[in-house]
Amino acid sequence: MGQKTTRIGLVGYGQIGRAVHEMIDRDAGNGMEVVFVHDQVADAVKGVSSDLVLGDLSTFGERGADLVVEMAHPSVTQAWGAKILEQTNYMMISVTALADRGLEQTLEGASKQHGTRCYIPHGGAVGLDALYENRDVWEAVTVTMKKPPKNVDCTGAGVDADSITEERVLYEGPVRGACPMFPRNVNTMASIAYAGIGFDRTHAVLIVSPAWNTATVAVEARAPGLDLELSRVEGITGVTGASTPASIYNSVQTIASTGAGIHLR
Ligand SMILES: NC(=O)c1ccc[n+]([C@@H]2O[C@H](COP(=O)([O-])OP(=O)(O)OC[C@H]3O[C@@H](n4cnc5c(N)ncnc54)[C@H](O)[C@@H]3O)[C@@H](O)[C@H]2O)c1
Repeated sequence: MGQKTTRIGLVGYGQIGRAVHEMIDRDAGNGMEVVFVHDQVADAVKGVSSDLVLGDLSTFGERGADLVVEMAHPSVTQAWGAKILEQTNYMMISVTALADRGLEQTLEGASKQHGTRCYIPHGGAVGLDALYENRDVWEAVTVTMKKPPKNVDCTGAGVDADSITEERVLYEGPVRGACPMFPRNVNTMASIAYAGIGFDRTHAVLIVSPAWNTATVAVEARAPGLDLELSRVEGITGVTGASTPASIYNSVQTIASTGAGIHLR
């Protein structure tokens, strides 16, 4: 039984974008095909076949993508999310964009009006299914991230990462407040908030220390008769944990693969 191939457009061709492209191409039987690659920096797509490079994102519709995957920056969803959803399905991995209530409503509205889907991958969050399945029962959710300061873009918080010489709490409060201050670093907090009790009720703690060389994400969710505790410690390069590229690819293939075989869902 032949299946339609899912046509995929990639926006953002950095660490994650390149890895996801490579993983899609690695398995010819997965029923997925990359139909364009876009990055705002021309150098980023050097080496990509010229027929795949999409210089002007406003022409994305000409490529007939069934799914566009943002792996760039939350500003892409602000500028393009609704326009993409007018024509096709969209996955946004820079989930901090959703802390903007107006943008969330715009995306929801465009999706419903045009019959398309907007996907949030679990990304760097472990155990998101357990949090999501019980989202109606949690009374409190706390997400704590620990990172080396050099891996945190502190620009939005007005902090010079190089000046941090000892353990320091950079943020403590609702996830909604952390997202505009650290838009490239707290995507995991944002997806945990979205899956659980929301951006205002999910408590966020972001701690940095130059003594650490790994990234830790820990989630605690409490409800009467139900406690959930999850954590992951991993290496980090730039703003991205070691397991995230494979996690994003897994979400893409869960949605888009039409290949034969046994599939875990
Ligand atoms: N959901 C998660 O759990 C999770 C985890 C890690 C990173 N992220 C996010 O994923 C994104 C990509 O991460 P990365 O490690 O690959 O980053 P990266 O810096 O290696 O690559 C990002 C690429 O996107 C491009 N880009 C940035 N803004 C753009 C724009 N407006 N239009 C087009 N291209 C643009 C950059 O030129 C760069 O090539 C970041 O926003 C990061 O915060 C999400």
